[in-house]
Amino acid sequence: MSATLIDGASVAASLNERIADLASTFAKRTGRKPGLSVCIVGDDPASAVYVRAKEKRASNAGFESRVLRQSASLSQAELLETINALNAEESTDGILVQLPLPPGLQERAIIEAIDPRKDVDGFHTENSGKLLCGIEDGFVPCTPFGCLHLLHHHFAQQGDSLAGKRALVLGRSNIVGKPMALLLLAEHASVTIAHSRTRDLPALCREAEVLVAAVGRANFVQGDWIRQGAVVVDVGINREEGKLTGDVDFSEAQKRAAAITPVPGGVGPMTIAMLLWNTLTAAHRRSGLPPPRLQAEQD
Ligand code: GUN
Repeated sequence: MSATLIDGASVAASLNERIADLASTFAKRTGRKPGLSVCIVGDDPASAVYVRAKEKRASNAGFESRVLRQSASLSQAELLETINALNAEESTDGILVQLPLPPGLQERAIIEAIDPRKDVDGFHTENSGKLLCGIEDGFVPCTPFGCLHLLHHHFAQQGDSLAGKRALVLGRSNIVGKPMALLLLAEHASVTIAHSRTRDLPALCREAEVLVAAVGRANFVQGDWIRQGAVVVDVGINREEGKLTGDVDFSEAQKRAAAITPVPGGVGPMTIAMLLWNTLTAAHRRSGLPPPRLQAEQD
């Protein structure tokens, strides 16, 4: 038996349609579009590709989409000045500073300078703290938020849920692993976080009914680490010989998993959709309107 594919491209496409409808309703009510401002510093080629994709998708969804491109020689003080200007700007609902920043710029201080109500990346400690405490008026980082949406979609189709499941998160980054674990915990899964110093990782993986892999190493998770009938979410985007490869050995894993996200076409397309969702949420809050709710939250 081969695993069901969790089709992120199609889930993201329908969410993007809904976002475009909601953005248009928002514009009619308020007389302005939701505004996303993205800062990119330096010329990292991968970041340039990601930022162009964010810019295009935001404007396709009917957002005011702006990119501030700055040279790698920008000082910390100059970048802080840019952030302060965006914090004060009425038409900017969401601010995203593309990471990594060039050497010499202190990422944490820059993130903390963003107004938490405009922090659509969900990286500010105020938003991390809200996620930790289960306070729902913050922002959730886009990649784990997208993974959660895919898991909701899959389990809803099965008439099942995450409650009580044994979930394993591979990776402990602030951007993916840690927030993913908190989101799964909030859904009443029983969560383990594994990382580079975890002993006997294959055995731990074989216990997982839900496995989220975010280690950034191509084909790291072997097929025989997958529990029979597991649901596997592969966050990896690794370039191998010009080809995109996930963190999971897909062809072997799909023989054992019940469901799995492909790479590409799984988590990737969800990330920008969640960024637009967060920006739309910020726009509603800033205008005193009730923010829209994700379908999964309404069930
Ligand atoms: N670089 C890689 N992923 C991300 C992300 O989700 N947000 C930002 N700001 N930078 C990134």
